[in-house]
Amino acid sequence: MRYLITITLLLCGACSKSPPHETPVPGRWYTASQVSAGEPLYQQYCAVCHAADGSATSEWRTPDGNGNYPPPPLNGSAHTWHHPLAVLDQTIANGGAEFGGVMPGFGTVLVAADRLAIIAWIQSLWTDDIYARWWAIEQRD
Ligand code: HEC
Repeated sequence: MRYLITITLLLCGACSKSPPHETPVPGRWYTASQVSAGEPLYQQYCAVCHAADGSATSEWRTPDGNGNYPPPPLNGSAHTWHHPLAVLDQTIANGGAEFGGVMPGFGTVLVAADRLAIIAWIQSLWTDDIYARWWAIEQRD
């Protein structure tokens, strides 16, 4: 039995997506592997509303006829960087309903590692300046 567990652990180590000791992208919390894992997931689940390049719509501050706000840009040009990692993760997992929004939740489709990879890809679009402002908020909260 112990033998089997050892083999399983070895196999899982070998097939893991990111090298065990991959260092983060300089100045960022995430690794390059997380960014590349996040991009196809983002394109599959998020691009339909937030656009392939995360730019969504510049009209994101203007509610529609039902009072709902359009999807905001996630590329650093709107206010996504005001939210700490845990809040971004919760928004993706639970959607916007708890804020009176209309974004669907992805908690049953995307496991925590997938959600973090998507956040890594989104943040890879941010300038160093926007990222630094986000990091200050992240450290405070
Ligand atoms: C059906 C359209 C739709 C899809 C699909 C969608 N979103 Fe959204 N998203 C929205 C809308 C609309 C908002 C604005 C808040 C609300 O109404 O819930 C939003 C808000 C957000 C926010 C908060 C941004 C901010 O600046 O406060 C994040 C982060 C986010 N979405 C990430 C994602 C990610 C990641 C995915 C894919 C896993 C995704 N969204 C898929 C429509 C969508």
